[in-house]
Amino acid sequence: MQQVEEMIGTSPAIRAVAEMVMKVAKTDLPVLITGETGTGKELAAQAIHAQSLRRRSSFVPINCGAIAETLLESELFGHERGAFTGAVQQKKGRVEAATGGTLFLDEIGDLLSSLQVKLLRFLQKGTFERVGGQETLHVDARVIGATHVDLKTAMEQNRFREDLYYRLGVLHIHLPPLRERGEDVLLMAMRFLTRASAVNAKVIRGYSSDALDAIRSYHWPGNVRELSNRIRRAVVMAEGMEITARDLDLTSEAAFGIGDSLDSLKAAQRRIEVEMIVKGISLHHGNLTRVARDLDVSRTTLYRKLREYNLQCLVPPAPPVHAAAVSVRN
Ligand SMILES: Nc1ncnc2c1ncn2[C@@H]1O[C@H](COP(=O)(O)OP(=O)(O)OP(=O)(O)O)[C@@H](O)[C@H]1O
Ligand SMILES: [Mg+2]
Repeated sequence: MQQVEEMIGTSPAIRAVAEMVMKVAKTDLPVLITGETGTGKELAAQAIHAQSLRRRSSFVPINCGAIAETLLESELFGHERGAFTGAVQQKKGRVEAATGGTLFLDEIGDLLSSLQVKLLRFLQKGTFERVGGQETLHVDARVIGATHVDLKTAMEQNRFREDLYYRLGVLHIHLPPLRERGEDVLLMAMRFLTRASAVNAKVIRGYSSDALDAIRSYHWPGNVRELSNRIRRAVVMAEGMEITARDLDLTSEAAFGIGDSLDSLKAAQRRIEVEMIVKGISLHHGNLTRVARDLDVSRTTLYRKLREYNLQCLVPPAPPVHAAAVSVRN
C-alpha cells in the first residue's frame, strides 16, 4: 500500500496535499479528490487509507466510468441470485468488500443519478440493498471519491446531485497539475530515471542540459503519469549515458513556457536553488564535490541545502568505505 512518503515533491503545493492527507486520514468522513488526469488522485487515496486506522482492511477501488451502467450497481452493491438474467448466484459488491476499509470511487462524476441516490444513502446511513435483494445491509466503509471533471459545473447542470456534492466534498483535496509544482518535476524525473534504468538494466546517469530545460518548460498535460511514461520510453531509446530531449520526444514545439505568474521572493529563491542543485547533481552524476564547486558553495552549504529542500534522495549511495554524512532514501 502506498505511503504518503511515496508522493514525491517538495513544492509548497504538494506539501499542502501531503498535510491534508495526514489530517483526513485521522477521520472517517468521506473525501473528494480532484485534479487533472495523472496528477496522483489514486495515489493520494491510497496514502489516506495507508495512514488511517483502516489500513489493515482492504482498499477497494472501482472505476465508475469504466463499468457499463447496467453492471455498475451490481458491482458496487452486489446482487442476489436471480436478480437478472445471468445472476446465477448471489454476489457481494465492492462496498461489502471494503468492510472495515476504504472504498475508492474513481471518476465519481460519471455516476448515474439513480446510483448517486443510493450512494448518498450509503454515505448518510451506511445502508444499502443488493440488486434484487430485500434485506437492508449495513457496512462500515470509508468512501473516497475522485474526479477529473468539475463537479460544481456538473451540479449546476443537474448532472450531479447537490446533496451528494456537499456530503462528499466536506473534505476536499485538490491535486495541482504538475506544471504548477515548480521544481518537483525535476525531482520526479530523477527518481523515475533511477527506477526505469534499474528495470531496464541500463546504466544511465542523468539528463543532458537540454533535456532538463525541456522537462522544466513542457506543459505536461498528462501530468505525473505522462512524465513517468516518457522517462520509461526514453530509457529504452537512449543510446548514451544521458537522456536527451530527443529521447524524451520533447521538442521545442512541445515546450509551453514556464508561465509568468509572480512568486514570492522566498518561493522564487527556493525554486531556483532546487533547480540548480538538481541540475548539478544530474550533470555531475551525483558527485557533490563538483556540484558544490560549480554552484560556488562549500560542501557543507550544499549538504545543508540538500537537507533543507529534502533532496537527499537524489544523492547516490556512497561506497561503504567512504560512507558520506548524508542519509540516503530510495
Ligand atoms: N507525487 C507523486 N510522486 C510519485 N509518483 C506519483 C506522484 N503522483 C502521481 N504519481 C504516479 O503517477 C501515476 C499516476 O497517478 P494516479 O494513478 O494516482 O493518477 P490519477 O490522478 O488517479 O490519474 P487518472 O485521473 O488518469 O486516473 C502513478 O503511477 C502514480 O504512482
Ligand atoms: Mg486514477
